[in-house]
Parts: sequence; structure tokens; C-alpha cells
Amino acid sequence: MSIQWFPGHMAKARRQVEEKLKLVDIVFELLDARLPLSSRNPMIDDLVKHKPRLLLLTKCDLADERGNKAWLDFFHSQGMSALPVDAKTGKGVGQIQPASEKLLQPLFATREKKGIRSRQVRAMVLGIPNVGKSSLINRLAKRTAAVTGDRPGVTKAQQWIRIGKTMELLDTPGILWPKFDDSEVGLRLAASGAIKEEILPLEEVALYAVNYLSDRYPQFLAERYKLKDLSLSGVGLLTEIGKKRGCLQKGGEINFEKVAEILLNDLRSGRIGKVTMEMPGDWHSDGGVEADG
Ligand code: G4P
Repeated sequence: MSIQWFPGHMAKARRQVEEKLKLVDIVFELLDARLPLSSRNPMIDDLVKHKPRLLLLTKCDLADERGNKAWLDFFHSQGMSALPVDAKTGKGVGQIQPASEKLLQPLFATREKKGIRSRQVRAMVLGIPNVGKSSLINRLAKRTAAVTGDRPGVTKAQQWIRIGKTMELLDTPGILWPKFDDSEVGLRLAASGAIKEEILPLEEVALYAVNYLSDRYPQFLAERYKLKDLSLSGVGLLTEIGKKRGCLQKGGEINFEKVAEILLNDLRSGRIGKVTMEMPGDWHSDGGVEADG
């Protein structure tokens, strides 16, 4: 579900996440493997600074292998633990428990010093809408027995899902808003399907997507739409795709709305091919996006 974020919503979401954070020892921060930085909430570092954090690059099945590797290298080079996961098939999900245990060694050591032998830990899933939070929770719940119950100090009954021997996962995720203040980030989020069409016009998003694809994945456009002339760009390419797909309206004009729908559905579902929508090199060190990225 996409949500339109207003300042009031953002403040409420932040408060709700802060409440949930009090209950857990580790956070699984979900980022879309196709656009990891664009799908990251800008305040997350500040919010989660006191907890161990495991980055999970979701929907890795839709992203390009080379892109997945580049992003893993990027996060590892920043000292962050990251894993690619595909909640649809469960690929990578089995790595979550061992990676978490590794991150939690310091917590276990501190507990032991205090005479607490328990290695039991609590975790939560956090991320923007549509990044795959529910799918991952459901996938983890299927692998394990769900447990229910009140916990001391928790006002509202909170459900926990047991993962493996030592971990419990909060069954409701923390939801944060995506970053809208950079237009390129907004276009990438819209192209991936993370934000609603009402926020950005479909045709503008399709124009952005077709230019990106013709720059980085021209062979996918050529193969999917049987295009011969790849020297075209923008509207020229959308026109050719429209002709190939019979998106014509009265008078023989191209119906760009229909073309945009076809292109974006093909991109979001992966039918066009495995596409990574941003690479680490598209970002400046100050967190902004390269103008031509
Ligand atoms: P959220 O809780 O963070 O809002 O996200 P949710 O799990 O609802 O997932 C959003 C969409 O992304 C869903 O598609 C879901 O199936 C898809 N998805 C989640 N994880 C993966 C993944 O690892 N790989 C792929 N390929 N897709 C994933 P939908 O179109 O909204 O629903 P449906 O396709 O399940 O019917």
C-alpha cells in the first residue's frame, strides 16, 4: 500500500517507530535492492543509532546481479551488514538468523558480564511502504512457529514470531516514509512502484524509465519491444513501443498513457529483465544524486 505522507503522518510514523524500537535489540532495515538509497528513509541513521542493524536488500530477484553485488560491496565498505533477500521464493532468508547472531555478539557478551546467560533477542522489520515488509514477515512466520502473548512492560498485546532458537520478531513492522525532496529519487520510487501514480504523472515516470533503460539496459528494450532503432530517446522510444504494442487512439495518434502503463508494468514485474534503478556511483558522497544518473 502506498501512503501520501504529510508532516503530521511523518511525525506519527516516527513516534510509532520509536515506541517499537524500545521493544527490540536489533533492527532489520529493508531496502529495495533495485534502489537501495532512494528507498531509504533519510532519518533512519538518527532513529536507529543505538541498535545493531542488518540491512536486507529486498526483491533482489528483480534487480540485476551486478547491481546486487555493487550494493553489497558499497554497504560492506561502509561497515554495514547487508544481505540480499527474495521473500517470494525465500532465497537469502535463511541467512538472516546467522547474520543477526554475529551482529549481536557484543550484546550477548555484555549480558554475560551482567550474569545474564540468555541469548534470546528481539527483532523488528523497518522500511518504507511496499518495500516487502509483510512478505518477509510472512515468509519468516511460515518457517517458524508464531507465538502470541503479552509481555511485561508492553501496554498493548504485542505478537511475536519465533525465528530459530534465539530470536523473536515483532509481527507488525515499523513504517517510515520515503524521501521525496529529490525529484530523481521520487521518479525512481515511482518507477519501481513504491509510490502512487497520483503523486507523479504516469507519463513523466515512463519517460524517466525509458531514458534510464535506453542508457543502461538498451538490450532489454530492444528484445522486449522488438525495437530496431535504439538511437531514439524519450518520446521517440515511447512512440516506437506504442506502435509495436498497438497503443493507438482515434486518428492514429499514440496513446502515451497506455504505453506508459505497459512499460512500467513490464519494468515493475521484471518482465523486461532484471533492472537495478540506481548504482552506488550515481550518488554523491553528500547523499545527493548525480544530475545525469
Ligand atoms: P510492505 O509490507 O513493505 O508494504 O510490502 P509488501 O510485503 O506488501 O510487498 C509489496 C509488494 O512487493 C507485493 O506485491 C509483494 O508481493 C512484492 N514483494 C515483496 N517482496 C518481494 C520479493 O522479494 N520479490 C518480489 N519479486 N516481489 C516482492 P503486490 O503486487 O503488492 O502483491 P502480490 O504480487 O503479492 O499480489
